[in-house]
Amino acid sequence: MTGDREPRPDLPPRRPFGETGLDFRPLGLGAWQIGTGWGRVSDEDALGVLRAARESGVDFIDTADVYGDGRSERLIGRVLAEGDWRPFVATKVGRWRDPGWPGNFRRDVLRAQVRASLARLGVKRLDLLQLHTVPFEILRQGEIFEQLRELQAEGAIRYFGASVESMDEAFHCLGEPGLTALQIIFNVFRQKPAEALFAAARAKGVALIARTPLASGLATAKFKPATTFAGNDHRHFNRDGAHFNPGETFAGLPFEKGVALARELREFRPVHASMAQFALRYILDFPEISVVIPGARKAAQVLENMGALALKPLSPETHGRLADYYRTRVAAHIRGAN
Ligand SMILES: NC(=O)c1ccc[n+]([C@@H]2O[C@H](COP(=O)([O-])OP(=O)(O)OC[C@H]3O[C@@H](n4cnc5c(N)ncnc54)[C@H](OP(=O)(O)O)[C@@H]3O)[C@@H](O)[C@H]2O)c1
Repeated sequence: MTGDREPRPDLPPRRPFGETGLDFRPLGLGAWQIGTGWGRVSDEDALGVLRAARESGVDFIDTADVYGDGRSERLIGRVLAEGDWRPFVATKVGRWRDPGWPGNFRRDVLRAQVRASLARLGVKRLDLLQLHTVPFEILRQGEIFEQLRELQAEGAIRYFGASVESMDEAFHCLGEPGLTALQIIFNVFRQKPAEALFAAARAKGVALIARTPLASGLATAKFKPATTFAGNDHRHFNRDGAHFNPGETFAGLPFEKGVALARELREFRPVHASMAQFALRYILDFPEISVVIPGARKAAQVLENMGALALKPLSPETHGRLADYYRTRVAAHIRGAN
């Protein structure tokens, strides 16, 4: 849709985003880090992350109203207002603290929350509004999707989608008319979606967005069993799922187990790639994924991560071995919805 459209021969082709007719670079940016929940990220670092994304050709950003109580959206709005970059911005609704669940799903409340996102981003229409891992029973009741279709008909949102935790939720959402995108956990430690969901989403023309691609940093194999995190980092306070789905933190792996499993991953890394680039390349090799959204706390991480686009695909043999690794070494340790 937007972003810089000048040819960049150094970057691979964009991928279609479901049936929208839009296409994006397959690596975008996750903007949870520039809100809250990842220790201290200063405004300067957060703006540095966004500018590094702009400079490296990112044209898709994922955020949510609740990331830093609006801070992530506000910072994105600030960079958009500079006027020389207009990435597609996917945001989310449903987890705002006040009134919380189930009040957030009332028609008047949801609309007010959408208006607040529009104001923070400084746009007239949201590019993509995703339900933010709302309870399965709310998805099943279906009324919330009616609200999304109304907002779309009125022009407040261009497209709608859902960020889900489990494959059951994902398959349920695929049945909702008008759904444009599904956001799922998919990474080298969480391979289940490749088994059946990819084919079903493709058959429905629904775009897949892969989140937590680095398993909260675990897949880079940089952590040690003794690594600690700040008190306001979810890798500290949600390590065992005390605050939200454990699957959102370290892909649902117990930390020490994850550190050991990440060490085993090192042997798969291509010679000229960093571990982060290798973990992202693994996901990029699935054409069913429209866009991968790694998060970053520093500009340098964005630049390194974008380097994954220049890597050759992993060989079919490596993919086969990684599928075995998941089945035999990892799958049994995943906690939380899956
Ligand atoms: N419920 C939902 O809908 C939901 C839930 C989770 C995430 N998301 C979305 O998905 C995005 C991505 O997921 P995520 O942020 O949870 O996890 P992620 O992308 O798997 O991990 C991001 C973390 O990995 C580390 N990292 C990034 N690049 C690195 C590099 N090149 N080398 C070494 N470490 C690196 C950074 O942390 P350190 O530097 O601190 O190690 C960064 O904060 C989020 O930003 C958000 O937009 C949505």
